[in-house]
Amino acid sequence: MKIKYTAPLRGELAVPGDKSISHRSIMFGALAQGRTEVSHFLTGADCLSTISCFRQMGIEIEQNGPDVTVFGKGLHGLSAPADILDAGNSGTTVRLMSGILAGQRFSSVITGDASICRRPMKRVIQPLTEMGADIVSQQDNGCAPLALHPAQLHGIHYSSPVASAQVKSCVLLAGLYADGKTSVTEPVVSRNHSELMLRYFGADLSLDGTTAAISPEPSLTGQKINVPGDISSAAYFIAAALLVPGSEVLLKNVGVNPTRDGMLRVCQAMGADITLLNEDHSGAEPSADLLVRSSALHGTTIEGEIIPTLIDEIPVLAVLAAFAEGTTVIRDAAELKVKESDRIAVMADNLSRIGCDVEATDDGMIIRGGRPLHGAAVDSHKDHRVAMSLAVAALACSGEMEIRDSDCVTISYPGFYQDLQMLCR
Ligand code: S3P
Repeated sequence: MKIKYTAPLRGELAVPGDKSISHRSIMFGALAQGRTEVSHFLTGADCLSTISCFRQMGIEIEQNGPDVTVFGKGLHGLSAPADILDAGNSGTTVRLMSGILAGQRFSSVITGDASICRRPMKRVIQPLTEMGADIVSQQDNGCAPLALHPAQLHGIHYSSPVASAQVKSCVLLAGLYADGKTSVTEPVVSRNHSELMLRYFGADLSLDGTTAAISPEPSLTGQKINVPGDISSAAYFIAAALLVPGSEVLLKNVGVNPTRDGMLRVCQAMGADITLLNEDHSGAEPSADLLVRSSALHGTTIEGEIIPTLIDEIPVLAVLAAFAEGTTVIRDAAELKVKESDRIAVMADNLSRIGCDVEATDDGMIIRGGRPLHGAAVDSHKDHRVAMSLAVAALACSGEMEIRDSDCVTISYPGFYQDLQMLCR
């Protein structure tokens, strides 16, 4: 796909539903008794993979665009899948479902695409094995395909070496099937959607600092869930509006859970003009409209506890840094190397192709911003967040950007290019 600047971004947009919350609405809805009605569900490929895995296990799920009804059958209502479960490109599906599958009375195998089969799964195999699960990496390489067989799970306390919501959620979900309480402590609190939604469905879940604990065998009850807009998708329009002079956009109903909103805080520290309007804290997940106006940005340091709250936004923050005056240092973000692509290496390579002074480090990047940058042939490496970040960069570069494998945006944002074009008129 070729993209170049046409006009400032102006107007309103409601971005699609949050990916993390959409996945969980299907999973927890399937394990609850009765109907779960989901609105503003994200119809990206990742969340559709989760739907198809649960259909394979006998759960009826009606989907009409972003309106989804899950007919839950309770904690022990899943049936053995006839085939291998295919998570596609979705790490959330493989890791969270491993926790669920570990507690079932049937065997299963879960795998995904080439990228998924390279991503580290030891981080879930290890705690699940400690709980007594029978889970193996079929190629013995710590990656998917993962084969699971029935086993009695035991409640454990797990101290996770990484701040990962996927690991935390996996262990808590296995804890639903254990013979005692299960708790997880993280180095820093990662996104807490599982904790909030499991409680909403009726789980006995307690929180204490960076520890979440769950009691086994709750009776979960189907609920109504209105998924807020995904701040990780809004991030591209925030960045584009900040970078392109003369822009002003209103992003409606964006999720602003404090475990996810680090990008807003970093942008404001860089000098961004972002105003939160219509803040709504009435439900489990807070939301707001975001009014974003183009701004002169300066470099900053992004490190420490804020990292998990913006981990998926670092590629687009790197683009902002490339156009900001001065140096931006990103550190404590080694997790980027094991996302859909190695986002440190891939973003450093792409930014240098457009003329940016960027250095990849072991756990982040050093970006010396402010030079005029030019369009070039760049490569998404089939990573949706890289593709969308490069599309944003294209709007602030001179000339034309050619993005390889740009269609991978369907993973989390099928209508991304259309929405971008709609605002640039
Ligand atoms: C997610 C957690 C994050 C994030 C991913 C979605 C989730 O991964 O990068 O896009 O829904 O739990 P980690 O938990 O591995 O950090």
